[in-house]
Amino acid sequence: MARRELVLFALASIRVAGHATDISIPQNLSTKVLLPDVYGYSMEPVWVDDYLKSNITSNLMQAIVNITQKPAPFRIGGKTADQTYLHPDQNVTSIAYPDPTNAETFNITPAWYDTWANYFPPGTDLIYTLNLASNTSDFATAVAEAEAVHAALGSKLILFEYGNEPDLFQSKSWRGPGWGVEEYVAQFANITSQIRSAAWYRNASTPPKIQACTFADLPTFIELQVAQDDFDVVNVTAAGLIDPDLIASYAMHSYPQSTCTPERWLRMRLDLLSNHAVIWTNVSKYVPQIAAANAAGSAFVMGETNSISCSGRSGISDTFGAALWGVDYVLLAASVGIEKLAFHLGAQSEYSFFTPLPYEYKNKSLDAGIRAPFYAHYFISHVIKGDSDWSIAALPAANESDFSGYGVYDASNDALRKLVFVDLGIWNASTGLSNPSTLSATDSTYTSNGTRPVSDMRVTTPWDEGAEVSLLRLNGPGTNAKSDVNVSSVVFDSATGTKIGDEEAESVCVGAGGVVAFELQQAQAVLLELAHV
Ligand SMILES: *[C@@H]1O[C@H](CO)[C@@H](O)[C@H](O)[C@H]1NC(C)=O
Ligand SMILES: *[C@@H]1O[C@H](CO)[C@@H](O)[C@H](O)[C@H]1NC(C)=O
Ligand SMILES: *[C@@H]1O[C@H](CO)[C@@H](O)[C@H](O)[C@H]1NC(C)=O
Ligand SMILES: *[C@@H]1O[C@H](CO)[C@@H](O)[C@H](O)[C@H]1NC(C)=O
Ligand SMILES: *[C@@H]1O[C@H](CO)[C@@H](O)[C@H](O)[C@H]1NC(C)=O
Ligand SMILES: *[C@@H]1O[C@H](CO)[C@@H](O)[C@H](O)[C@H]1NC(C)=O
Ligand SMILES: *[C@@H]1O[C@H](CO)[C@@H](O)[C@H](O)[C@H]1NC(C)=O
Ligand SMILES: *[C@@H]1O[C@H](CO)[C@@H](O)[C@H](O)[C@H]1NC(C)=O
Ligand SMILES: *[C@@H]1O[C@H](CO)[C@@H](O)[C@H](O)[C@H]1NC(C)=O
Ligand SMILES: *[C@@H]1O[C@H](CO)[C@@H](O)[C@H](O)[C@H]1NC(C)=O
Ligand SMILES: *[C@@H]1O[C@H](CO)[C@@H](O)[C@H](O)[C@H]1NC(C)=O
Ligand SMILES: *[C@@H]1O[C@H](CO)[C@@H](O)[C@H](O)[C@H]1NC(C)=O
Repeated sequence: MARRELVLFALASIRVAGHATDISIPQNLSTKVLLPDVYGYSMEPVWVDDYLKSNITSNLMQAIVNITQKPAPFRIGGKTADQTYLHPDQNVTSIAYPDPTNAETFNITPAWYDTWANYFPPGTDLIYTLNLASNTSDFATAVAEAEAVHAALGSKLILFEYGNEPDLFQSKSWRGPGWGVEEYVAQFANITSQIRSAAWYRNASTPPKIQACTFADLPTFIELQVAQDDFDVVNVTAAGLIDPDLIASYAMHSYPQSTCTPERWLRMRLDLLSNHAVIWTNVSKYVPQIAAANAAGSAFVMGETNSISCSGRSGISDTFGAALWGVDYVLLAASVGIEKLAFHLGAQSEYSFFTPLPYEYKNKSLDAGIRAPFYAHYFISHVIKGDSDWSIAALPAANESDFSGYGVYDASNDALRKLVFVDLGIWNASTGLSNPSTLSATDSTYTSNGTRPVSDMRVTTPWDEGAEVSLLRLNGPGTNAKSDVNVSSVVFDSATGTKIGDEEAESVCVGAGGVVAFELQQAQAVLLELAHV
């Protein structure tokens, strides 16, 4: 008996630190803004009706508002935005042909905009993508949609987009040869001029601005495209598309992995998603785009994003590893100047963080529910909560493939107030592997052997000795888990989206020399916040 206890004790005290554990924070890091609505969503138009039939989304978003005070923005857009047509006289509010999954056309009446005008928590900023593909009668569809959606949404509608991924229009036969930045800028000006001269726009108290570009990818990334193109923010602003009073932001879309082509299908891997070095490679490519947007006086945003393009991949997109990816991706993006990110949703998509209704999919009956990556949003809501304006910097000492760290500063005085550390080391659990809202065929069959490693972290902060630091943790059974995820024991009811429980309090005191000591488990994120400033 005594011997057995000894063995257990020995196992429990194993400390395997694959990554740096002694972290110092340079005084002079350059920071970028961290907005209270950095984390938002993009909803595919044909799937809006399904989301409205459930309160899961509105309840989850209300739980976020309760923390952040500022609701997560929603963009209603995606590929079916360019297949949306107004048919005021049709006998149903909306209908997708032949069906939502295979939609070629999405016909709506103006009343469709009313159906989602009041669904989201009060104060939610809404973005709507106008149909740019339809270029007949001087873009009459886009111009009519603009008026109709504003009539329904009023000041909730903060931005229009013109088309979804217009850089792919030629490959979809929606534009002819020669489609490029020059024609795009001219058509942008044409639609803008018509909207701005409309009576409703001139009369509006807070007329919507524009989120320009909405390009699928960088010209240098041609795996999804048929041909090289010149569509990016650098080239668009060089061509004169600059108007900081009207263009609130320039957006591009990004998915680190993809099911869209056979080559990329073969490269999908969870350990390459939940990997800070890969995330850095993917995010840092946008630095010239961000610089071009900022030089034009506007923000740069990731207007549509998620783990794996063409609807995601169960077993990767819906795991706890994808939740850790989400935390690292959003904070890293913010630290290089990507001000907002919108995670794409479809009611039956394998990457959706929540699905509203039960449905038949790949011959299986799946439940409505919440997937592990939503917990990244709830965790980040605590990172961005508070009365201050925040700024963020990535920490040079926490910059490895399996480890990242961020400092969050009070923007008014550059005082360090919070720290986030993400351990992206792969730990494959033997529990929490299934989730009735995902495909069971993709449940993991791998299990890591031995004891899950824990690092003894020692972070040297500018904080006063004796000060109290609260800790909040994003916990999951392992990288491969699809359920049993929590934020300091808070979980969400998968049927209703209501919050269950309260954050379990955990705190440490700042030690001598400003050192904060705490444990960090492999595959876990932790938020440290200086209390009582
Ligand atoms: C910060 O300060 C250190 C030493 O004082 C210096 O080496 C480094 O270049 C500075 N970094 C920035 C971003 O100013
Ligand atoms: C959503 O919540 C509202 C208000 O609480 C309630 O009236 C409605 O029945 C709920 N809808 C569903 C589908 O549960
Ligand atoms: C939000 O906070 C209010 C007031 O504390 C509470 O009544 C409500 O249940 C909370 N909603 C969610 C979704 O957590
Ligand atoms: C709407 O009109 C179509 C023909 O355009 C018809 O087939 C359909 O049954 C009608 N639906 C309803 C609900 O009236
Ligand atoms: C208009 O759209 C058609 C495809 O529907 C395309 O062939 C044509 O090039 C477009 N013209 C312009 C000026 O955008
Ligand atoms: C938009 O372009 C069409 C030609 O395609 C032209 O007739 C019309 O005058 C333009 N409108 C504006 C406002 O630029
Ligand atoms: C102008 O706006 C006011 C209130 O915002 C509204 O009542 C009125 O109908 C609008 N007029 C036009 C022409 O859109
Ligand atoms: C601008 O367009 C050209 C093609 O005309 C392309 O080669 C280049 O990569 C684009 N610029 C940037 C910064 O991507
Ligand atoms: C993200 O980075 C990985 C590793 O370099 C690469 O394989 C992948 O293509 C990148 N994705 C995008 C969209 O750039
Ligand atoms: C679903 O079942 C049908 C009929 O048995 C079969 O043809 C099809 O390949 C199955 N689809 C998938 C995704 O398994
Ligand atoms: C993290 O590492 C990458 C790749 O070496 C480097 O380019 C980047 O500047 C580093 N980030 C920080 C915050 O030091
Ligand atoms: C775990 O241990 C078993 C039995 O020793 C071995 O077959 C398996 O490869 C190990 N798994 C891993 C991930 O190391």
